[in-house]
Amino acid sequence: MEGVLELPPNVVLRAEDLSVVYKMPRGIARVVDRVTIDFRVGRVTAIVGESGSGKTMMASALMKLVPYPGKIEGRILFRSDLLGGVVDILKLSPKELRIIRWREIAMVFQGAQNSFNPTIKIKDHFLDTARAHGLDEKIALEKACKLLELVKLDPERVLESYPHQLSGGMKQRTLIALSLLLDPKVLILDEPTSALDLISQKVLIDLLKDIHERYHMTMIFITHDLPLIAGLAHYVAVMYAFKVVEFGPIDKIIRNPRHPYTVGLLKAIPPLRGELRFVKPIPGSHPDPVNPPPGCRFWPRCPLATDVCRKVEPKMVEVEKDHFVACHRWEEVEVSKLWT
Ligand SMILES: Nc1ncnc2c1ncn2[C@@H]1O[C@H](COP(=O)(O)OP(=O)(O)OP(=O)(O)O)[C@@H](O)[C@H]1O
Ligand code: SF4
Ligand SMILES: [Mg+2]
Repeated sequence: MEGVLELPPNVVLRAEDLSVVYKMPRGIARVVDRVTIDFRVGRVTAIVGESGSGKTMMASALMKLVPYPGKIEGRILFRSDLLGGVVDILKLSPKELRIIRWREIAMVFQGAQNSFNPTIKIKDHFLDTARAHGLDEKIALEKACKLLELVKLDPERVLESYPHQLSGGMKQRTLIALSLLLDPKVLILDEPTSALDLISQKVLIDLLKDIHERYHMTMIFITHDLPLIAGLAHYVAVMYAFKVVEFGPIDKIIRNPRHPYTVGLLKAIPPLRGELRFVKPIPGSHPDPVNPPPGCRFWPRCPLATDVCRKVEPKMVEVEKDHFVACHRWEEVEVSKLWT
């Protein structure tokens, strides 16, 4: 039998050896592969990585919401106030899950701005959420107005609008207001800026900064665009081939990346200031989850790969305080010489 579950005081959510597995006719796909990661109380963690690396699957697994027939393995420890202590989300009953989802952990899904019900007004989207969680309708509408103001929208106009009457940026801000209706302490945002133009992206990030300063919730922010959220995120987790390969405080990751893939990701981004240089993507393609390379999954694309890399999977090691990396040759990574 499992004893009392515990988390360090500064950690609200921990994925432990987390996997998401799909059995397919052509083989088993481990689309999240034994990931262990802590999300710190009141801190913003960015999850970055190429398309298909497992970011959405990992975030969805944190809420036990992966698409059928995916199976989740491992443990997800969460400090729940409503359930009276640390729980393993994967062991909760459907009733207990209903208690914590949206009220304690909320997620704005990737592309969700397109999934508003087009036949009902925004007001009814707020009221439906309130009803589903037993929140009084009058209180819910008052709160909706406050939240819409917080995301710099005109509550009266937006609440009476149908989704198609709002721009992409307005819909995304409305979704963020909706996700905050039940005061979650963890907010997961899956690429909220990807469909927006550059100005709307910047506006949204500034709003999220304001919201974070006001509510101090824990945020998990999935993005392709690390510089965009540099002023918002405290930590970064870099995912490659369904695993976290580097994790640490954002300043350490940007100044001292120790994984060749992280170096490649950072060099593939045009600089915000200074001389405009030619930006090269990392050559090669992302592995297939059914048949990933043995050893380090990055070796087919890595300029530093050796025989050991091709055979032995590197373990996560702490290379400086709070900064972890899974690479056999992390000490030899020279940022200026890689991906030139
Ligand atoms: N319903 C599904 N069934 C089986 N495999 C899936 C399913 N949805 C996604 N996958 C696979 O899981 C892997 C991880 O997908 P995921 O959506 O988490 O990637 P991502 O990092 O979020 O990518 P993107 O940046 O494009 O959103 C991919 O290889 C994808 O093909
Ligand atoms: S373990 Fe080897 S192949 Fe993998 S990233 Fe490090 S140097 Fe490259
Ligand atoms: Mg995704």
